[in-house]
Amino acid sequence: MKVTIIGGGGRVGSNAAFALQCAGVVSEIQILDANEAMAEGEALDLLHGASTIADQRIYAGDYDRAKDSDMFIITAGLRRKPDESRLDLINRNVSLFSQILESIKTAGTRSDAIIFVVSNPVDILTQLAVSYLDLPWNQVIGLGTMLDTARFRSMIADELKLAPTQVKALILGEHGDSMIPVWSSATVNGMSMGKLPGFSPSFQNQIFEKTKGSGAEVIRRKGGAGWAVGLTIAEVTHAVALDKQQLLPVSSLQQGKFGLRNICLSVPTVVGRKGVLDQVEIELWPKELQGLQASARALKATLSKVVSK
Ligand SMILES: NC(=O)c1ccc[n+]([C@@H]2O[C@H](COP(=O)([O-])OP(=O)(O)OC[C@H]3O[C@@H](n4cnc5c(N)ncnc54)[C@H](O)[C@@H]3O)[C@@H](O)[C@H]2O)c1
Repeated sequence: MKVTIIGGGGRVGSNAAFALQCAGVVSEIQILDANEAMAEGEALDLLHGASTIADQRIYAGDYDRAKDSDMFIITAGLRRKPDESRLDLINRNVSLFSQILESIKTAGTRSDAIIFVVSNPVDILTQLAVSYLDLPWNQVIGLGTMLDTARFRSMIADELKLAPTQVKALILGEHGDSMIPVWSSATVNGMSMGKLPGFSPSFQNQIFEKTKGSGAEVIRRKGGAGWAVGLTIAEVTHAVALDKQQLLPVSSLQQGKFGLRNICLSVPTVVGRKGVLDQVEIELWPKELQGLQASARALKATLSKVVSK
């Protein structure tokens, strides 16, 4: 399986490339970036480690060399300028993203290519990719709340002093302010989380607020997220590469489950080589369902402002 990381010279793209290298599942990793020197530098640095970890082809490329990729991972993006509004940043990223989609389309893709959007605002850009590219909607996936979910689980485990990989709990909806925690189905190694000692409404509030603020905290401390997001990008990439049929909180165009349509956001989604295989409607607490629907409305409001600009 060949993956091309557009924006691979940046922090998120290069950290994702390293996670893909350490796992050794994909056969080819192409790094593409507007900053060609950075793309070449990152590809070279990764290549130097190839002999110690996995037999993969790793190189810096371009759109022409990318056209036979099984998967395009788009991590190219702009950071917020001082005093810039959220919407202005969104519009600058939308314009940059549109140029990338144009370049992908002009060079061409395989008919079964998967487009995997990571750049923010991820749900809005995923929707843009669905409408702009001539690919079926189910071949376009956004990272959605994968990172929020990973942070949520890791912090629950840290607080309850449990093994992180045994904690299962989801964040759904927008990757942003209106995301919602799903406590109703949270488990630890198959046991309901609500039955554990130490679990209480104040614990729930504290962990969710910490999760919601953790992106900003990482930006404040080190400039931007990298390692954890790289791991979640690798998890989705491997679900596609190995046709795992893995249930993941990724963003995709909603088809009616939970009463949601015509908007990209995260619900439990089965992912395999053909992209989105199914969106799964699980029973939620009424306040969780209302939160998910409110998240869709918030995204639609943003989308209407972006499109009308
Ligand atoms: N979805 C998520 O959970 C999540 C998490 C973290 C970061 N992100 C997003 O990922 C994006 C990248 O963040 P980062 O910290 O790596 O930023 P960064 O500035 O380190 O890297 C961005 C890279 O994109 C490249 N680039 C810019 N315009 C390009 C173009 N037209 N074509 C190709 N490459 C181009 C830049 O040269 C740079 O190397 C941002 O949009 C950020 O918000 C998403």
